[in-house]
Amino acid sequence: MSETSRPRAGAVKQITSHSNPIIKDIKGLVALRKHRTQTGLFVAEGLKLATDALAAGWTVRYLAIGPEARDNPVAQKAAATAKARGALILEVNTPILEAITRKDNPQMVVGVYEQQMTPLEAIDPRASTVWIALDRVRDPGNLGTIIRTADAVGASGVILIGDCTDPFAVEAVRATMGSLFHVPLVKTSPEAFKAFVTRWPGTVVATHLEGSVDYRTVDYTEPALLVMGNEQQGLSADLAAACKTLVRIPQAGQADSLNLAVATGIALYEIRRKHLAL
Ligand SMILES: C[S@@+](CC[C@H](N)C(=O)[O-])C[C@H]1O[C@@H](n2cnc3c(N)ncnc32)[C@H](O)[C@@H]1O
Repeated sequence: MSETSRPRAGAVKQITSHSNPIIKDIKGLVALRKHRTQTGLFVAEGLKLATDALAAGWTVRYLAIGPEARDNPVAQKAAATAKARGALILEVNTPILEAITRKDNPQMVVGVYEQQMTPLEAIDPRASTVWIALDRVRDPGNLGTIIRTADAVGASGVILIGDCTDPFAVEAVRATMGSLFHVPLVKTSPEAFKAFVTRWPGTVVATHLEGSVDYRTVDYTEPALLVMGNEQQGLSADLAAACKTLVRIPQAGQADSLNLAVATGIALYEIRRKHLAL
């Protein structure tokens, strides 16, 4: 949407038409990565995510609220806070929420937020517990689950290496269950990541199906760096060579490998065991 046609921020607008340009714009953010990248915006569904985003200080551009939200004190408070911070509040009907989210029974609140990324250079190992680095992660559900798990174990953030799925895609955001707003994300190239590894002062461990070390036997001195491979191809040979230790999670049975998000969760709980008082 052009700057001139954008309605005043910090206001309330009622929208009943699917062809309203703001609604079309929001649908574009749900459907197209290109549109998210060009605008630097993304869509997150639900009141919980709206309250998480506001509490964590993320910028809300639009908050679309359905009929049910108008009698809900938590939704009203979120809308008032978002409006005070300059968001445009859109009062919409249920069919519009269904069209935006492409779901029956949509959430009563849908927010449009400004994306946030942390530069690789801003990572301070001295202030870090563990960073999770993902080589070309493809599946938005896996990425969202990993961000959620990173949040649960108190990890410092997630580094996306190379051509990864979009963390701001609706499916990924949904799978984070709000943790997206609490876990710093970094995007980098394999080359920059390899240089970063050489400077890392703590443990660097990659999980690998051909790892010679049992993941339970490593002394994970923090700050740690946990590197995970791509769902189909595993970790690239280049990145594997850059990591000091390749660990394997033992398996019984016939499965070729563990799901990426599951393997990440298992490794993270081992790395953070001492700190989680388990
Ligand atoms: C689905 S697996 C990749 C399978 C792939 N076909 C391969 O050859 O590596 C995705 C990632 O999860 C991790 N992973 C899964 N199972 C593992 C295991 N048993 N031990 C160590 N890492 C594992 C590795 O980082 C792997 O690259």
